[in-house]
Amino acid sequence: MAETVIEDSFRKTFGSTPEVVVRAPGRVNLIGEHTDYNDGFVLPAAIDRAIAFAGRRRADRQVRAHALDFQDAVEFSLDDIAKDSRHPWSNYLRGVSKFLEEDGHRLTGADVVFGGDVPREAGLSSSAAVEVGAAVFWKKLLKLELEPVYVVKLARRAENEFVGVPCGIMDQFISALGRQDHALFLDCRDLMYRHVPLRGDVKIVVCNSGVKRALAQSEYEVRLKQCRQAVAQIASTGLAVNSLRDVEPADLETAGSALSELLLRRARHVVTENQRVLEAVQVLASGDLERFGELMNASHESLRDDYEVSSAELDALVELAWQQPGVLGARMTGAGFGGCTVNLVRSEAAEAFAAAVREGYEQALGLKAETYICQASDGALAV
Ligand code: GLA
Repeated sequence: MAETVIEDSFRKTFGSTPEVVVRAPGRVNLIGEHTDYNDGFVLPAAIDRAIAFAGRRRADRQVRAHALDFQDAVEFSLDDIAKDSRHPWSNYLRGVSKFLEEDGHRLTGADVVFGGDVPREAGLSSSAAVEVGAAVFWKKLLKLELEPVYVVKLARRAENEFVGVPCGIMDQFISALGRQDHALFLDCRDLMYRHVPLRGDVKIVVCNSGVKRALAQSEYEVRLKQCRQAVAQIASTGLAVNSLRDVEPADLETAGSALSELLLRRARHVVTENQRVLEAVQVLASGDLERFGELMNASHESLRDDYEVSSAELDALVELAWQQPGVLGARMTGAGFGGCTVNLVRSEAAEAFAAAVREGYEQALGLKAETYICQASDGALAV
């Protein structure tokens, strides 16, 4: 869908057919939250909402970019790529282009239009979709030989070093390497991954709280620091640990007294969440969706109580979800402090579930939630 819209828009803007059209999806994380930057495990799926890019080469070194969703345009030279605070939407494309050039890939100028239907600032990784989309756009347009994991790291680098947001690697990874009807199990330490089929008559229902994540970035940075502090303090007791990934639940019993009560709770979330992901992958493979749902619920409680990144709105959505027939599990997804919840719901109950949660949310909080019944989809590099 996004592709046709973007192709038409390119024709209207630039008066010709684009040479290439690419798409990069948003994502929902089924389980494994705030584990990626702790070298841990995650289990996201790419969703059927994407950002599409359409473009053609130019003979010079200028990039003319139109953002359909912002009804806005910029022009910049590949010889002088700087951050643009007046058109922040363009910084993902600028950052990706700059780092490609820095890595020795000589680009040509381009005319490009992009946009799509991934809700923004909702915790569904629209920024990762733009970064991955930009990288795959250059790859296809100029026939660059780029390894998949290089594309992922380039996209993340644009977010970390150019845009200035200190995210982990999960969002870019799944946007590039997701697979239709599968979740992706990723070890964020060595980047080994495996696609896990999503079997059974169930739907992934995403509920968008509609609340923008105002605190998300500052609190995310606080959590990053707290995790590092916890590792340093655990290591000071003599345990050989480089990240919370290396900490076993039993280690928390022994080394826990070295930590403040707050750091113990932060560490406990990450340590137990990693265990939950490992079990979730097993039970998904064996078809035990009830257990999978219980693990999702436990993940939410841990994020709410130990990691403290939920919000009143997210808790309300999850609690409403837990009361509905046909729901197997529900939790907040993404960084937290607003954004979305992810729900695993029996297919025949999915529509009624979504309607009941929207209605209950409006009654309880006077707020409107959007709901999306999602299909696990191919990433931008799927072949
Ligand atoms: C954001 C970040 C990811 C990850 C999640 C929390 O989506 O971009 O890297 O850390 O938060 O799991």
